[in-house]
Amino acid sequence: MYRIFILFCVSFCFLSCVNSNPSNVHDEIDKSAIIDSAMVVSAHPLASEIGKSILKKGGNAIDAAIAVQFALAVVHPSAGNIGGGGFMVIRLNKGDCYTLDFREKAPSTAHRDMYLNDDGTIVKRLSLDGSLAVGVPGTVDGMCKAHQKFGSLSWGELIQPSIELAQNGFPLTQLEADGLNYFVNSKLKFNSIEPSFIVKDNWLKGDSIYLHDLANTLYLIKAKRRAGFYEGEIALKITQEMERSSGVITSEDLQNYESIWREPLIGYYKNYKIISMGPPSSGGACLLQMLKMLEPFDLNQMGLHSYKSIHCIAEAEKRAFADRSKYMGDPDFIDVPLTQLLDSMYLKHRMSNYSSIMATLSDSIFPGNFNFKESDQTTHYSIVDTYGNAVSVTTTLNSSYGSGVVVGSAGFLLNNEMDDFSSKPGQPNLYGLIGGEANSIQPNKRMLSSMTPTILEKNGQLFMVVGTPGGSTIITGVLQTILNVIEYDLSIQDAVSIGRFHHQWRPDEIKIESNKFDSLVIQQLKQMGHSFKSVNSMNRVDAIVISEGLLEGGADPRGDDSCSGF
Ligand code: DON
Repeated sequence: MYRIFILFCVSFCFLSCVNSNPSNVHDEIDKSAIIDSAMVVSAHPLASEIGKSILKKGGNAIDAAIAVQFALAVVHPSAGNIGGGGFMVIRLNKGDCYTLDFREKAPSTAHRDMYLNDDGTIVKRLSLDGSLAVGVPGTVDGMCKAHQKFGSLSWGELIQPSIELAQNGFPLTQLEADGLNYFVNSKLKFNSIEPSFIVKDNWLKGDSIYLHDLANTLYLIKAKRRAGFYEGEIALKITQEMERSSGVITSEDLQNYESIWREPLIGYYKNYKIISMGPPSSGGACLLQMLKMLEPFDLNQMGLHSYKSIHCIAEAEKRAFADRSKYMGDPDFIDVPLTQLLDSMYLKHRMSNYSSIMATLSDSIFPGNFNFKESDQTTHYSIVDTYGNAVSVTTTLNSSYGSGVVVGSAGFLLNNEMDDFSSKPGQPNLYGLIGGEANSIQPNKRMLSSMTPTILEKNGQLFMVVGTPGGSTIITGVLQTILNVIEYDLSIQDAVSIGRFHHQWRPDEIKIESNKFDSLVIQQLKQMGHSFKSVNSMNRVDAIVISEGLLEGGADPRGDDSCSGF
């Protein structure tokens, strides 16, 4: 009854907002919606609107994803990008699945110790700030590949709305204004040519910003597709930027970049099929590991956000992250033992030292041994089209505004994805993640990711499209959103909005969103040996659930995220 009531209220709210004029869309961001045809949930209302307009024209989910990707590069520059990379998971309406890896690559002159001093210590922030932090961008090639294989509308139609936004300007939300102020104060110094269009004393909500250089870059991509970015004027601007600021990406690196169709990673949890991203993302593999480790436990009986369920989930998270640290990296460079890592007997064994009353210290958890003796500022968008095709994309510059470098007179930001490698195996990166040799830097290698764009089927039918930004917390954010729906029967909006927690093995602590958990529960968990670190917010999950012929969207209230559909 409660759910039907909520459904009614949300539908009413949606119907009253769905035809809103994009120019005032910032005032009434549609956080959730229940509709019956097609939907986009993304990090920005203008990007969601553009995606919806493509779906309305008869475009499919892949067309809409491409349009949303370019739109986010304009309206959500901290994470939306053409200078970064990402992963796309596709499920067509007949059930065929595809995954596209458009992750950045190390430049061809990159080497293992490029971020180390002579004495072997890490040069602080060298893998994060400025041109040397940049991986060869994959987004434009990825969008071209996706369009070549599945696009139904013309390439130009998908980019034109973003060119217009960049050219004609658009009003900033509060969050985007805050973001630009942060950029001006902390990242401007990494630019060899001042990106004057961003420079302003104080950006305010409602200010309009005009991105003429970016409009020109997008125009070239529209006209020349891949060659508009990896060759000619824009490629030259990127390499000139590198030369001015000691970066190492060459014109050959750009020309040689290729996104790759990879085998989808598929696993099962109860009667759900999980379709996710395999290496070089660790996201899908860790998610499937955690779900399999948790399957034998009665999480529903333990209760949502009870000390028992938080303990149990955190213990599974620790063990998966320990495996991540040793075994995962670019599959074109190392052998990732996926079969062993996902083996159900192995995962049962992995939880064999689990105690329901005490935290297992991370110091006593090690990456698994397969020879055990037993018989066992990223952004995400989710799209479903009128034909029943689904797309889940997570894309990133790595940290907010990436390397901070705007390519001189080309108007777009470059990533700082090189920090996702282990600059020094055994030492933590920005997200505190420990990596090993498997993720050491090598020329042309892809850095390990945690991005987890995922699609679920229930009884053979499309059930959920989900993903989020958040560095290492991506995997646990996706895990908990799935469990909130499957185990605790929350609506997708509640599943997205509710508090989240995160354990990544090292450091040995549970990161927890402040004021979202019962203090008694925290007390009990502390008594079991868990430590806590409070953070303001984690992730921005954007998801869609398909149930009884309806599409139910959940946009994260932690950001400007919005649902749009019809
Ligand atoms: O690929 C990764 O795992 C990271 N570069 C993702 C970074 C991220 O999610 C930052 N977002 N808030």
